[in-house]
Amino acid sequence: MLSSRIRQMQESPIRKLVPLADQAKKNGKTVFHLNIGQPDLKTPDVFMNSINQSNLDVISYTHSEGIIDLRNAMAAFFNRDNLDISSENITITNGGSEAIIFALNTVCDPGDHIIIPEPYYANYNGFAEMTGVKIDGIVSPVDRGYHLPDIIEFEKVLKPNTRAILISNPCNPTGVVYTNDELQLLVDWALKNHLVIISDEVYRNIAFDERENLSLLAFKEIHNNLIVIESVSKRFSACGARIGAVISKIPNLQQNILKAAQSRLCPPYLEQLGSVALYHLPQTFHESVKEEYEQRRNIVFDALSQVKGLKISKPEGALYVFVKTDINAEDFAKYLLQDFHIDNKTVMVAPGSGFYQDKSLGINSLRIAYVLNTNELREAMDIFVKGYHSFKETII
Ligand SMILES: Cc1ncc(COP(=O)(O)O)c(C=O)c1O
Repeated sequence: MLSSRIRQMQESPIRKLVPLADQAKKNGKTVFHLNIGQPDLKTPDVFMNSINQSNLDVISYTHSEGIIDLRNAMAAFFNRDNLDISSENITITNGGSEAIIFALNTVCDPGDHIIIPEPYYANYNGFAEMTGVKIDGIVSPVDRGYHLPDIIEFEKVLKPNTRAILISNPCNPTGVVYTNDELQLLVDWALKNHLVIISDEVYRNIAFDERENLSLLAFKEIHNNLIVIESVSKRFSACGARIGAVISKIPNLQQNILKAAQSRLCPPYLEQLGSVALYHLPQTFHESVKEEYEQRRNIVFDALSQVKGLKISKPEGALYVFVKTDINAEDFAKYLLQDFHIDNKTVMVAPGSGFYQDKSLGINSLRIAYVLNTNELREAMDIFVKGYHSFKETII
């Protein structure tokens, strides 16, 4: 009955242990969720205010490419950084997720290949499965701070039917922010090989230590080969709004994506209205979000860097740290939920295998998302570190 396509799709490594977490909660434990990139920050009031003030009699379909006010607001937001975007370069989607699926469907035929530095956002596997695209992962190791592999590694996996490179910058799950120099190398190599770069920038602006985090749109020479993925989910702490966008200046690309957009009719109307107000928020809002995550990054980094046996690279952006351990990370994650607690509290983390194409590469790794307020995060990290020591005793 079931297609091999659906059978081959992997379970989300982020949600895989949810039944164990549910059971822990039923048993009366408090579970701190460090497993999923669901920000806890309040969605700005302007979002609901705009929806409440809309007074619509009918929640109608909108244009398939999204309402013009949102496309204009998003373009203006990008143009704060002089990125020279207009509403015609934007198709509004159901989250960044649909934007990636549209992008893959638009530049790849089934069986075509894309290159992704790994570890990478686990759902890229699902999107590739849905679109029939093959991923060639190339490893960015912790020892080089998860920065881009050398171009020679890209060369090694290049095939006649390689169509694109997909990067997430800042990166989920590693927290790396690519430097302008490495982006330039990537741009040059993509152009030389007539490849598209799909630049997933849903965490753009969440970059720490005064680090510059350029959109690839700043590299004008790649405009004819570039698709940028945008989303309100993390930027505005509005994951459930399901609003994202495909942003591209590739000639004829938006007109072609429109065909796919028309077949799913439109993105949600009310959430588009709310998102217009989000994109008008001042720069100070984005600064405060960044500062909050930077504080959290410091708490997590300080807690982990004191633990012998854990290898980390200090996250440069986004909401995550990817930890290399000396234990089986999935067993450890299960142990935390099933067997360990401090004052009836425990933590949930995401095992690392799902973030690799070759699952064996991530067996000892795990991802922590710092999506709790600073007090809870300190407590959660204390539980995590004590749980790690306790787990190690059980396997000696
Ligand atoms: C790197 C990356 N891209 C895309 C997405 C999808 O986001 P959305 O909620 O906009 O679909 C996520 C969500 O966690 C993500 O981490």
